[in-house]
Amino acid sequence: MKAYVLQGGFGLDHVREVDRPIPSPGPGQALIRLRAVTLNARDIGVIEGFYEPDRTAPLIPVSDGVGEVVALGEGASKFAVGDRVAAIFTQSWTAGEPTRANWTSTLGSPLDGLLAEYAALPEEGLVRVPEHLTDAEAAALPCAGVTAWHAIAEEGRVGAGETVVVQGTGGVSLFALQFAKLQGARVVVTSSSDEKLARAKALGADYGINYKTTPEWDQAVLDYTNGVGADHIVDVGGGGTLNRSVSALKVGGRISLVGLLSGASAEGFAIVPAILRKARLQAINVGSREMFERMNRAIGQHGLRPVIDRAYPFERSIDALRHLAEGSYFGKIAIEF
Ligand SMILES: NC(=O)c1ccc[n+]([C@@H]2O[C@H](COP(=O)([O-])OP(=O)(O)OC[C@H]3O[C@@H](n4cnc5c(N)ncnc54)[C@H](OP(=O)(O)O)[C@@H]3O)[C@@H](O)[C@H]2O)c1
Repeated sequence: MKAYVLQGGFGLDHVREVDRPIPSPGPGQALIRLRAVTLNARDIGVIEGFYEPDRTAPLIPVSDGVGEVVALGEGASKFAVGDRVAAIFTQSWTAGEPTRANWTSTLGSPLDGLLAEYAALPEEGLVRVPEHLTDAEAAALPCAGVTAWHAIAEEGRVGAGETVVVQGTGGVSLFALQFAKLQGARVVVTSSSDEKLARAKALGADYGINYKTTPEWDQAVLDYTNGVGADHIVDVGGGGTLNRSVSALKVGGRISLVGLLSGASAEGFAIVPAILRKARLQAINVGSREMFERMNRAIGQHGLRPVIDRAYPFERSIDALRHLAEGSYFGKIAIEF
């Protein structure tokens, strides 16, 4: 089979196409022929050595994919040959709260990911995907989709009429916009681009703020909510956005601590404004298989479709990863096999 492998160093120059034997499914595993993967900001972090700086062993990157079951290992009975499945991001986190041990089972680092024609995975780490989705759309669900679902529906319990702020128009944020609308919320989107804000409104956003031309976007949220603030903010910016997220929050509101696009630490975090808002900061780490399954039911019920910016053929995977690294997209970048 063909696979892309990161080896001999970090950076896109060290990702190469290689030939590898098709894996055999072990006991309890299913062999998947991949149909599509989608890319996450994390995949570039992995390739650049941010997550495993000491790693020397070769790695197949990319965590999120969907494929068809083509063979079953001994004792595997949950799926049949021909079923279309997605791999869950944290392979061993099936339900309840996670354990530290679960974090060693994430795809695309430290485990091999899915930028390969085949993968053998434990059946407990797979879910069926909603039938109405294309392969690329279904491949968008495991990390970005489940993270947003976890933030909005599982921990956030966002309710009808609440105000939710999502930052930017990347994968997690557009899913968060869509899920918040399903819950009946009013959604404010921030973006560096007016054109992307217009597209977010077409997806259902109620209000847009350009955080480049209005760096005090927190004040704009307060103005929009008559000084009350937002009930829920999905913070993907991290270090550079957290203080403004607190500032834009309603008293008793919640921040989902999701990303680090503008910094992995929050030096200068202002504690007093957080206390004055009785802010709840809830860190999110993707989600369990049960969360994935609940999300899939909601997506199926509402016919929701993930936003795919562009799909590349497998042979152009490096171009797709370069597109991700450049950062100019709306929603998800996909690779189709
Ligand atoms: N904790 C978890 O479980 C989890 C799961 C998934 C992702 N993440 C993290 O969450 C973040 C987002 O992931 P993703 O895959 O959705 O990323 P992505 O698709 O690459 O999103 C990129 C978009 O974020 C927006 N953005 C960048 N810097 C921003 C800033 N300072 N303020 C507001 N928006 C900003 C930009 O939107 P515009 O172009 O519209 O300006 C950009 O296009 C990443 O840090 C990722 O590592 C965490």
